[in-house]
Amino acid sequence: MAQTTGRVAQPDVEKVAILGSESIILGFHLTDYILRDVLTNIPASNYVLITDSNLAPIYLPTYEERFNAISSEIAAEKGQKEPRLFVRVLAPGETSKSRKTKDDIEDWLLSNAVTRDTCFLAMGGGVIGDLIGFVAATFMRGVPVVQIPTTLLAMVDSSIGGKTAIDTPAGKNLIGAFWQPKRIFMDLNFLRTLPEREFSNGMAEVIKTAAIWNESDFVKLENGVEAIRHAVLQGNASALAGATLDTRTEAQSLLLDVILASAKVKAYVVTHDEREGGLRGLLNFGHSIGHGIEAIVSPLMLHGECVSIGMVKEAELARNLGHLNQVAVGRLARCLSSYGLPISLEEKKVKDRIGDLHCHVDDIMDIMKVDKKNQGDKKRIVMLAAIGKTLEPRASVIADAAIHKVLAPEQLVLPVTEAANPPKKEVVLTTPGSKSISNRALLIAALGKGTTRLTNLLHSDDTQYMLAALQSLGAADFEWENNGETLVLHGRGGQLSVPDKEIYVGNAGTASRFLTSVLTLIASAPEGKKAVLTGNARMKQRPIAPLLTALKATGAIIESIEKEGFLPVAVTPNGGFKGGRIELAASISSQYVSSILLCAPYANEPVELVLTGGQVISQPYIDMTIAMMKDFGIDVERLPNNTYKVQKGVYQNPEAYAVESDASSATYPLAVAAITGRTCTVTNIGTKSLQGDATFAINVLRPMGCQVEQTETSTTVTGPPIGQLRPLPSVDMETMTDAFLTATVLAAVTSDPKGENITRITGIANQRVKECNRIAAMVHELTKMGVTASELPDGIQIHGKPIKDIKAPAEGIFCYDDHRVAMAFSVLATVVPKGTIIQEKKCVEKTWPNWWDDLEGKLGVRLSGVDQGARLSQAERKHLGKMRKSNSPKMDHTKSIVIIGMRGVGKTTLGQYAAETLGFKFVDVDHYFEKTLNTTIPEFINTWGWEQFRVKETEALQKILAKDSEYAREYVISCGGGIVETSESRAVLKEHVRQGGKVLHLVRDLDHVVKYLNKDTTRPMFGEDMMTIWKRRRTWYREVCNYEFVAYADSIVEDGWVTPTEWQAIKKDLQRFLLFITGRDTNHVDLTPGRVGVPTTFVSLTMKDLRTTVDKLREICEGADAVELRVDLLQQPEEDGKEVECQMYLEYIAEQVAILRRHVSLPIIFTVRSKGQAGAFADNDEQGMFDLLRWGQRWGCEYVDVEVCWSSAAIESLIRDKGNSLIISSWHDVPQQTPWGSKELEIKYQLADKYGDIIKLVGVATNLQHNIALEEFRETKKAGKHLIAINMGAAGQLSRVINECLTPITHPSLPAKAAPGQLSLAEINQARHLLGLLDAKKYWLIGTPIQHSMSPTIHNTGFDTLGLPHRYNLLECHMVEYAEETLKSPNFGGASVTIPHKIAVMKYLDDISESVKMIGAVNTVCVRYVDVNGKMERRLFGDNTDYLGIKRRVQPLMLDPSNPPEQGLVIGSGGTARAGLYALHQMGIKEIFLWNRTASKAHELKKAFASLCDITVIDSLEADIEPGVIVSTVPADSGIELPEHLYGGIKGIICDMAYKPRRTKLLQQAERKGWSCVEGIEVLIEQGLAQFEIWTGKRAPADKIEAEVLKRYEL
Ligand SMILES: NC(=O)c1ccc[n+]([C@@H]2O[C@H](COP(=O)([O-])OP(=O)(O)OC[C@H]3O[C@@H](n4cnc5c(N)ncnc54)[C@H](O)[C@@H]3O)[C@@H](O)[C@H]2O)c1
Ligand SMILES: [Zn+2]
Repeated sequence: MAQTTGRVAQPDVEKVAILGSESIILGFHLTDYILRDVLTNIPASNYVLITDSNLAPIYLPTYEERFNAISSEIAAEKGQKEPRLFVRVLAPGETSKSRKTKDDIEDWLLSNAVTRDTCFLAMGGGVIGDLIGFVAATFMRGVPVVQIPTTLLAMVDSSIGGKTAIDTPAGKNLIGAFWQPKRIFMDLNFLRTLPEREFSNGMAEVIKTAAIWNESDFVKLENGVEAIRHAVLQGNASALAGATLDTRTEAQSLLLDVILASAKVKAYVVTHDEREGGLRGLLNFGHSIGHGIEAIVSPLMLHGECVSIGMVKEAELARNLGHLNQVAVGRLARCLSSYGLPISLEEKKVKDRIGDLHCHVDDIMDIMKVDKKNQGDKKRIVMLAAIGKTLEPRASVIADAAIHKVLAPEQLVLPVTEAANPPKKEVVLTTPGSKSISNRALLIAALGKGTTRLTNLLHSDDTQYMLAALQSLGAADFEWENNGETLVLHGRGGQLSVPDKEIYVGNAGTASRFLTSVLTLIASAPEGKKAVLTGNARMKQRPIAPLLTALKATGAIIESIEKEGFLPVAVTPNGGFKGGRIELAASISSQYVSSILLCAPYANEPVELVLTGGQVISQPYIDMTIAMMKDFGIDVERLPNNTYKVQKGVYQNPEAYAVESDASSATYPLAVAAITGRTCTVTNIGTKSLQGDATFAINVLRPMGCQVEQTETSTTVTGPPIGQLRPLPSVDMETMTDAFLTATVLAAVTSDPKGENITRITGIANQRVKECNRIAAMVHELTKMGVTASELPDGIQIHGKPIKDIKAPAEGIFCYDDHRVAMAFSVLATVVPKGTIIQEKKCVEKTWPNWWDDLEGKLGVRLSGVDQGARLSQAERKHLGKMRKSNSPKMDHTKSIVIIGMRGVGKTTLGQYAAETLGFKFVDVDHYFEKTLNTTIPEFINTWGWEQFRVKETEALQKILAKDSEYAREYVISCGGGIVETSESRAVLKEHVRQGGKVLHLVRDLDHVVKYLNKDTTRPMFGEDMMTIWKRRRTWYREVCNYEFVAYADSIVEDGWVTPTEWQAIKKDLQRFLLFITGRDTNHVDLTPGRVGVPTTFVSLTMKDLRTTVDKLREICEGADAVELRVDLLQQPEEDGKEVECQMYLEYIAEQVAILRRHVSLPIIFTVRSKGQAGAFADNDEQGMFDLLRWGQRWGCEYVDVEVCWSSAAIESLIRDKGNSLIISSWHDVPQQTPWGSKELEIKYQLADKYGDIIKLVGVATNLQHNIALEEFRETKKAGKHLIAINMGAAGQLSRVINECLTPITHPSLPAKAAPGQLSLAEINQARHLLGLLDAKKYWLIGTPIQHSMSPTIHNTGFDTLGLPHRYNLLECHMVEYAEETLKSPNFGGASVTIPHKIAVMKYLDDISESVKMIGAVNTVCVRYVDVNGKMERRLFGDNTDYLGIKRRVQPLMLDPSNPPEQGLVIGSGGTARAGLYALHQMGIKEIFLWNRTASKAHELKKAFASLCDITVIDSLEADIEPGVIVSTVPADSGIELPEHLYGGIKGIICDMAYKPRRTKLLQQAERKGWSCVEGIEVLIEQGLAQFEIWTGKRAPADKIEAEVLKRYEL
């Protein structure tokens, strides 16, 4: 990119005046311009250019070169001496803004005799600008400085105004000066290399300025999101585009425009108020609260991110105080959010950045106390009055209580009955507009003819996108009146044209469906021009196939650009919508139907729409569409059989159209009137409404005893005196299901002097699958308040209770992130004595963002803010606002492991096993609880209730984990399933993680758990079904755990138990997992260069779902050293056409990891490859990417691949918690712009080196030269970290052959290659052989007789499968001396040794293994090269794999290998018996018995093994022993059978080393007794595999070898 930094003699620039001079200059490609201007107009003998190391490699070379060229040109012209240029590159980041750096720069300049005749050039972000500005201010009492800001923040903020500063340990910016720069050059070209997060960071200030200053600037930002981001973030814009006006793209102009606007405002304010008066205070919008947050979360979050949240909070404060309307708050929040900024502390993105750091409202307020801008002890905050306008020309004084209330995350609702001044008896209000009606109204009016004024529109993402889309289609013109409350829309009667850019609808479902049909209305377009509709990554997964099919059938030309049947789609206009008969499958979404109906009047022929596919879903929405079309003058005729007919026509816009309120929302204020005995009128909903919930007042409130009056468009309710609502013994709410929550809370306070006082609501089964299981949620929360409620099959039943007896739970009502739960309980809270806390108050924003303001301001209910989260500790508070380093404690492997998870997943069984594996002890929190409280849990719950139980449970957990507790270390602690239900317990668990401990979430397929639990009645159950509980808890489990293990089972026996073999497999998986996370056996690939087994490789799995290819996994992985799970290539699961929620997606991937771990013992590389890096994951979803990667770590994947193109903050926070997972830091040069050896590539290397344990750089080769360049690069990095360096593309295959560290490979059985040019292991080995990188070795079988040996088959099959050029031959000899020459020959690779040379061969060997020493025989010889004083010496090494053959076959048959049978028996006394004895000992069998027909030989053997273990020789097989493992080594023709009683004790495992026939008589006998059998042939194969692995350093392709051997054997 360096070469593109401009040499344009005369670029077009914009100038801005500040403090009376036009010293701010903006443009593109200004390098030459800047240098010429500076050298001419700020003459000096010394120029000092300072920048940071992120910028230097990209920009410095050009700057230096141009400086020299221009300065000599000017010097020649003027006949003067050329000035000197001093260049210094600083480390990037805030730490450079220090006294030390300032000192260093000064000392360096002084030592170079730099004088007063000096000019500084500060090229960098705010850090460089602030620091160098300050250096310039004091150097020689002040010399000129020129600011060349390179970040957006520096351009629009820090470079303007002359504030300079450095940090000290006591705080940021504490030392500095005002020092105005001589010039400020904003070369927007710099922004192209700026990381995205830094760009967003700067946008916060840009949006801030527009918000306080100028609405039209703000509108540009709102509408220009895509263009502005594109202009900045598109990395490879053509060389000098934008320098002059004629080369400037529209997007570039817009970018310049918005930066210019922002800079102008700052310049104006500085000019008129240089040192902080009133005006400058306005720029502080968002900063008062923003700083409070920043002090707590810095450096995890950036300044702009905190200010963004601050702005939203300050705007909400203005709204709460009545200065600002919700429309403005919504616009501000949406605008910030669209530029990637966070708008709330509760946001997931924020949580992931700051972990469980809680910004307690009191802590924020404390920090705000010391804000310089406060007036005395009164806080000053900028009050927005509208977009582009502030309440006063300065910050306003605001009371603490108001700030506290807005900032607090929870709401305390106080009862009206306890108010000193009770609220007004009568209120009138308009509730928020309906989303469905808003969207329809916008579309119809835009297509309609004439001007209309739309009021009460819901302002949401959906409507915002709809408006923008209609505008870009040229459908209509818009303007806003009344501060955005009224939309004036001039419809053009259906005239549409193809927009210049794609239409983007985010994740707005309605907008996308409606607009798809609208695009087909465009009649014509210039040749080749198409209208494109697209959305965000989520949107692209939501199917619209039935709609596309129907439209295409009418002749529309629509293509799906990415995936068939999904967005994005491109429509080519061909004469407009044809119309006629259209068939549409309507069982999936009514939106398809509405979409076509809405457009139908504009078809060329009348439309007859026939709905097929049986059931029509959501008929009421179709009815709503038809009714609204009628409001605008178009009739839809209903014919039988779900058929609709629409004649041609044009919508006629009425003068005004009020969007009806959302009927469900309207139920809440009406219910407040009902429950408090007052009167409430909702003005925008009445009898005319088509929304089912509009009948709530008539059908529910009236029978409960309210007076109800309804006009066509309004509803008025008056409640009976408090406490006198009547129950509804049975009410069917099927037509208004969303309103059942409102009815439920009213039912809680009914009285019925005569009857049973029970309300039964039915017909609401669908409410189980809304934001949460609403029926269960209502039951649960009501129960907490002491109200009796229970679930009905399709409803809920509530017992009314006297209000005075209702008790709000201390911790408040939990809302399940469901707006309706929150609003319903706030209705109830208006009468509950002493006040009720509603947690997560934010969740109301989904449909009624200012609900709390309206509840307080309009309905007169008193509210107060509450924050039950943890405050900062004293120590933390002391360090607030000071320079902090973020560091998390090291993992402490001796700390106890806490196991959490649903009841029934096996926390106890697997927990005990985990303890055994790790040598820890085991404790169950429930047992501890029962022991210390001396009660049983059911008893406790019956006596004290659940709530009390949870309190005590938390206490128990806290005690167990306390520092001085005996359980704090080396325990496995199993918790009850509900431990995560309270925030207190969750806090305890999080603290454990923070202190370096482990919290392990154990998961099992829920279906299995449910089945299992149906059998288990030992514990009392909540009145909830398991699925609901799981759905509620799973986010909590996942929030508190730092590890998750999936106990994967693919077969289960009937009642939910898994089979014993499956349990065994689960335990094995768990063992591997535990050994990994505790660092005892990390299973990492040995990457030592030059070792046997190099090159190492990993196979990339490309399938969508491992479940479908389970039986192939082993084969696919043969010979590889690791296996890569390409998560981005996995199926995005969809359920019933609905996009599956994020939690289920996680569960799916977790299972894939578990399946892989089950079937393949290789380490797993967890990779999520983004599109820009040659994968399939979205390029703009950093959050989603790192969420997944974090899970990769939590699932114990041995490696996690991280692309270095993401923001450093994200990468660093991932690395902080990596545990034992190694990081592969990768970078792919997909656009082919960064050749090997270039400076840019070096930067990528450095970046990867900073983060990775292994570096992976991938280029693209289009010719051989590219590979040579790569090899030269590789050579220079020899001493560095392990490096994977390859080139993609067919021409790059050579690089894959040469790369020796973890080369990605494919396998013929995979559905696709993960990257172009990828080779299989066999191909790589063959190529390496041809290139002379891999010698062909000879391997031998030495012994006699060997003609019938299986060994050649074993090894040659293995060599062939892996593409190794080696051969295995027979060397039949009676005397071992004949083999000597072979052993010494240079192409000798290794040998198997058999009778009669197993002992004699030792004389040729340099070294032997431990097993050889014990067994006394060698069966394997291999060659090793050993470094002796820098020289590699060849050594022969003897090993014995016979015992391994036995061990590796017998051990997996044990139910629990870590708990082997007590006794074992070996029969025979030859060489094989020795291997048998050693194998038994190696498997951990304590009592080993030996029997031989000739007892003396047995006693000899006993003696030989004496140093290892004590063997008992038995004289007779009748001896009274109970062996669990028997190894027989006597020949098959002996026909031996064992006395029956030996099989009597336990079902054991028998291994017969004789292998002709396969099933010997002995094995047949044992099998009849139910024993597990190991055949001699199996052991033979297995010892061969072990041999193969010793020789090649690779895992043997076992399946293929076994198949070949058995084939030969059968012959
Ligand atoms: N003086 C003021 O009025 C004022 C106002 C606001 C902020 N500040 C100060 O500004 C500083 C923050 O400034 P910042 O946000 O610019 O941070 P910064 O200077 O640290 O830059 C952010 C990161 O982006 C890199 N970078 C900069 N330009 C780049 C480019 N064109 N391409 C690639 N990478 C690039 C930097 O190396 C750095 O890693 C803080 O110290 C703050 O106190 C001062
Ligand atoms: Zn700021």
